[in-house]
Amino acid sequence: MLLSAGICYFITSPPLRAAVCVPRGVCGLRGVRGGRGLRRGWCREPGVYGDGMTARLVVLVSGTGTNLQALLDACADEAYGARVVAVGADRSGVAGLTRAEQAGVPTFAHRVADYPARADWDRALTDSCAAFEPDLIVLAGFMKLVGSAFLARFGGRLINTHPALLPSFPGTHGVRDALGYGVKVTGCTVFMVDAGIDTGPVIAQATVPVREDDDEASLHERIKLAERSLLTGTVGRMAREGWTVQGRKLRFGR
Ligand code: GRF
Repeated sequence: MLLSAGICYFITSPPLRAAVCVPRGVCGLRGVRGGRGLRRGWCREPGVYGDGMTARLVVLVSGTGTNLQALLDACADEAYGARVVAVGADRSGVAGLTRAEQAGVPTFAHRVADYPARADWDRALTDSCAAFEPDLIVLAGFMKLVGSAFLARFGGRLINTHPALLPSFPGTHGVRDALGYGVKVTGCTVFMVDAGIDTGPVIAQATVPVREDDDEASLHERIKLAERSLLTGTVGRMAREGWTVQGRKLRFGR
């Protein structure tokens, strides 16, 4: 058995599954990233960082990518506990992909229109993400619903951010709908993705007051300020502390 301080090694040869985490004793198996034999894995012990113990993030975008940028910036600090290993999009040429390229992060793009059926697009997206062995997938302004193949592969480690306080105002026009309804307080929600539209367990929320003179653009800009800090804070905690989901309740920690 190979052992070295601070790094987890896992034997993954079903039915034999074992984990050794040095120097902190036996750790959980949630960090195993597929395959058989001896694999180096992600130690979920809070406060232990370094290559091999840093959560691998794949981020999917459709637009300007300011949330992605916030994640890239947060990951520059090693103590954050995560790094962006790839960025994908549902179209090429979007600013989010340019941000990734400028940060030296690999990118990929799959357009729904390039596939004979939606399910084929979903499988291609799944395979591209899986190739980067993510611990967590972040939908950061990704304006497509992922399908059953994607959910089967990444369910439970797939999160999204929405510019309203779910379960109010789900869907693509959360900001406009909240403004139109006349709410005085709105905000943003980071949630675990399930098969519904913005229906998964809520992980974290932040509130934003609506101003008398707000229009959709001004309100969305203020929400996005709150959203970037909510998203980076939430992803960092998930990476460092791990999480469990029971029913609709997500709790940080193991
Ligand atoms: C965010 O407000 C997100 O919640 C919504 O689209 C916006 C994306 O912004 N779905 P950006 O591309 O991260 O700048």
